Amino acid sequence: MSTSPTISFIGAGNMASAIIGGMLDSGYKAANIWVSAPDDGHLQSIRKKFGVSVTTDNRYCAQQADMVVLAVKPQVMADVCRDIAPVVQNTRPLMVSIAAGLTAETLDEWLAGGLPLVRVMPNTPSLVGKGAAGLFANAQVEDVQKKMVESVFQSIGSALWVEDENLLHAVTALSGSGPAYFFLMLEALEDVAVDAGIEAGTARELAIQTMAGAAEMAACSEHDPGQLKRNVMSPGGTTEQAINTFEEGGLRELVRKAYGAAFKRSEEMARELAGKQ
Ligand SMILES: NC(=O)c1ccc[n+]([C@@H]2O[C@H](COP(=O)([O-])OP(=O)(O)OC[C@H]3O[C@@H](n4cnc5c(N)ncnc54)[C@H](OP(=O)(O)O)[C@@H]3O)[C@@H](O)[C@H]2O)c1
Repeated sequence: MSTSPTISFIGAGNMASAIIGGMLDSGYKAANIWVSAPDDGHLQSIRKKFGVSVTTDNRYCAQQADMVVLAVKPQVMADVCRDIAPVVQNTRPLMVSIAAGLTAETLDEWLAGGLPLVRVMPNTPSLVGKGAAGLFANAQVEDVQKKMVESVFQSIGSALWVEDENLLHAVTALSGSGPAYFFLMLEALEDVAVDAGIEAGTARELAIQTMAGAAEMAACSEHDPGQLKRNVMSPGGTTEQAINTFEEGGLRELVRKAYGAAFKRSEEMARELAGKQ
């Protein structure tokens, strides 16, 4: 592998654009990035925006690469993989899939077997450089390749490895679906603040800034979230009243149930996808 690896993206949608933007911001050279997708008009706008090389030929795109990022929807993945398999079996790049639910075994089979492969479960805040991704590597992936994929996903947020592929369901239920849990909390807080008389725009800004500030504190504090929570709760004060209300209302059990439902659905969707191909 060269010191400046060439990275090819098959698929030029939201995720590919987010990752490419992050990579360029963190110093990757556009000259080392290739992108392919069916629509040449769309590709030309990607080329203009990022300065990367583009082609409508997935095989040609894959052939250039030390690392191929499969950034297409799960429904077209089988066709894409089978099409590029003869090329990548020859050049043997690191294959990276960001598609939810498609197992390393299934992808490996479509790619004709034996290639180093990493599965990544990213999330939507990747689109603003604040993603949280879980990564799983199959046995063929070398340490240097792990570093390479890690640095790509760190350019759009956090990237953390799991040792067992099944834990990607647990990651899906945590950080994959997680942004929506926090959006729900924002929505609920905004609604009650508006009911209490705060103007809607002000309520939203205060709620968002509170969430962002709490997240920032949790990220950089030496204390765990429980301690940070207790630090805000003075005895007999307002926060204590609210937290007690959450606890008595069964918030923790509700979180457990919601998380479990997402986890179960992730497993079901993986089975459905495997059955359809
Ligand atoms: N968005 C997220 O936050 C998120 C989070 C986690 C995982 N993911 C996964 O990331 C993957 C991509 O998601 P996305 O949101 O970026 O989807 P997207 O915006 O719909 O992008 C898909 C891209 O694939 C292209 N494409 C379709 N058929 C193709 C083919 N045969 N060969 C090459 N390219 C083809 C599409 O081109 P056209 O538009 O020209 O058809 C489009 O550029 C999905 O597997 C999704 O499950 C996304």
